[in-house]
Amino acid sequence: MQKTKPALKTIGGYFELQLSPGKEHYPDLVRLNTGRNALEYILKQKGYTKIYIPYFTCDVILEPITKLNIPYQFYSINEKLEPIIDFEIEPHSCFLYTNYFGIKQEAVKGLSKQIKHLIVDNSQAFFSDPLPGLDTFYSCRKFFGVPDGAYLQISKKINRKFPVDSSIGRFSHLLKSIELGIEAGYSDFKANNDALNNNEIKCMSPLTQKILSSIDYEDCARIRKRNFNFLHKHLKGHNELKFNAKEDYSPMVYPFLSADRDLKLHLIQKKIFVATYWPNVFKWTNSKMYENYLARCLVPLPIDHRYNLQDMFLMLTTLQQFL
Ligand SMILES: Cc1ncc(COP(=O)(O)O)c(C=O)c1O
Repeated sequence: MQKTKPALKTIGGYFELQLSPGKEHYPDLVRLNTGRNALEYILKQKGYTKIYIPYFTCDVILEPITKLNIPYQFYSINEKLEPIIDFEIEPHSCFLYTNYFGIKQEAVKGLSKQIKHLIVDNSQAFFSDPLPGLDTFYSCRKFFGVPDGAYLQISKKINRKFPVDSSIGRFSHLLKSIELGIEAGYSDFKANNDALNNNEIKCMSPLTQKILSSIDYEDCARIRKRNFNFLHKHLKGHNELKFNAKEDYSPMVYPFLSADRDLKLHLIQKKIFVATYWPNVFKWTNSKMYENYLARCLVPLPIDHRYNLQDMFLMLTTLQQFL
């Protein structure tokens, strides 16, 4: 039998993009292209006949579900952002729960004892470790400057090789953000996000993996925690959303809920860019539902590693003008 020769290592030539060598945060999980494809991976591997999904989530979650033609049923959440389970969960079905904003790890623990086939969507909770034996996925670009990439914990891997993703064509917003600023890269950001729609399951691109290996995760987690605690200290009295901030979390954003539906607009006018989670919720719910209220009035304040306490103070004083 003919042996294939190992590729020769190149020596010399131009320098490659220089990134600090380091370690990924989840080196033992399955590396994939997107969070939605991680869900597809779970659904394919486990063969569930039905899935329960929250009204309060991103509609891209439906992509693998409709592709695999799996019946789904929406469920509601309460004011603690936890599922209202007032129905019988069918056998051979699975139940998807989102660790909202990265502050619901205790709820995940509770649900894992109560629900047989729980799937945890940690797209908003990069720093919440997966619980042993629980199918859990992460989407990397919600926390770091990468255009794609996901991690998956699953008890049994699919026994086949998937093609390797390439991110090269989806980097323009990240490059523009450095040379031209965040606003100049925004339309590219949207287009590059759209390019993630309707892709097959692929392995994480080598470029994304290399960037994810160069990040100082301890520092990123520390800064998020610090910024989150600062905002909570000053805003908890005004925040309709009640949660325990003593836990050792590094959330995605600080979720501030108030009945003022114009607050987001006011902040955006002051160049504090806050997202709507999620626009599709307006289509899925009516105006009397709590999820509809959350989509309208929840203000996700940025707390990530780009910001120091001075930035938090500035954001706080801007917000306080409208309270
Ligand atoms: C809560 C939630 N889950 C899953 C996803 C899907 O992640 P990805 O875009 O990596 O497929 C998103 C957003 O896209 C999301 O907001």
